[in-house]
Amino acid sequence: MPSSKSRKDLIDLHRLSRTPAEAYLRRQARPSSPRRKAGTIVKRPLLGSFSPMHQAKWVTEYVVHRLGHRHAFLDYSQTGDDNGIYRLEGHHGEVRIALAGDWATGTDEAHEVAQLMKRYQPHYTIHLGDVYFVGDVTEVGENFLGINNEENGYEPCAWPMGSHGSFALNGNHEMYALGYAYFDHMLPKLGLCVDGKQVGQHASFFCLENDHWRIIALDTAFNSVGWPMIEYFSKPDARLPEPLMQWLRDEVQLRPDDPRGIILMSHQQYVSRFEDCFDVPARQLAPFIGHPVLWFWGHEHRMAIYEEAGLPDNIRALGRCVGHGGMPVELSPAKPRHPEYKVEFVDDRLYPNDENLKIGYNGFARMTFRGPQLSVDYVDIEGTVVFSEVWQVDKGALTRR
Ligand SMILES: [Fe+2]
Repeated sequence: MPSSKSRKDLIDLHRLSRTPAEAYLRRQARPSSPRRKAGTIVKRPLLGSFSPMHQAKWVTEYVVHRLGHRHAFLDYSQTGDDNGIYRLEGHHGEVRIALAGDWATGTDEAHEVAQLMKRYQPHYTIHLGDVYFVGDVTEVGENFLGINNEENGYEPCAWPMGSHGSFALNGNHEMYALGYAYFDHMLPKLGLCVDGKQVGQHASFFCLENDHWRIIALDTAFNSVGWPMIEYFSKPDARLPEPLMQWLRDEVQLRPDDPRGIILMSHQQYVSRFEDCFDVPARQLAPFIGHPVLWFWGHEHRMAIYEEAGLPDNIRALGRCVGHGGMPVELSPAKPRHPEYKVEFVDDRLYPNDENLKIGYNGFARMTFRGPQLSVDYVDIEGTVVFSEVWQVDKGALTRR
């Protein structure tokens, strides 16, 4: 259990539904400074228990942030030499990546996970998306960039930077504020690290590659929100935007016979045993991919290792859900929604916490590349490795060792 008590509480994010209206509402309900928890039972404010002023603010914020156009989808057509494809390199033949999803909550737990990520001394860090509650300028500042918010009493939380670079995928919560803070405030602080300074991440998608591997990070979130209220009836499908598809064709030149191991990263999941599946991006990618891929995603707040799966005429993937970075971690329901998607491992241990929540453990993934070999350790908030796997690539095919 983290020792710091000056950051945000998990209870204010517990059972947060995946709707923009509730995200705006719940952020109004959070107290303006950390609670004193010793010896008390912490309760989340009921929706009706906060002031009319907060309710008015909720309505105003929701309307102002959600009406109007989304931020323009940025690509690499105007970025000079930067085409979004970067050399994946480390030291002495080893590359280390620390990967976390749904981390930017500003909680004590997010801070603790960040400290563990730093201890791994990663060459790169990658966030799989979601800045809570709605990814606006203030929340990007205090929950991701470590900027103090004078209007509340919480300590800010800073994303750990890699020695060679740091990147962030887009999440649906960033799009709840139409993506402006993500594209204009967060991405300029990320990207490759040159002479000790981040040069800026210029789009929400990118590729890190070497002679053996290609990590392709996608934006499934840009098309995961729709018009206010209408989106509740007609669900957006997380389709990959056309400029991204064009980049895959023309710049990445991704082909089914690529001899390197393909690793995909996205915010939304391709398949899920527990929640919705987003199969449209996988269908869009099918012409480019010839072997089963490792696919890391977040969005669901749990850690789960899937057996190889795929929908008919779609790519086959070994799904790895690592959306347990900073949100209250959901435990597996007794009856999964999609029992056909089998899991090899799910971390369903109860996390002891002083907020009386029945939740699982937060954590992150450590990826270590050595030539054609990739080791992935899934680490919990106490630093314990709860699952490990080693993969070898040969002529584009992945084999587990
Ligand atoms: Fe999400």
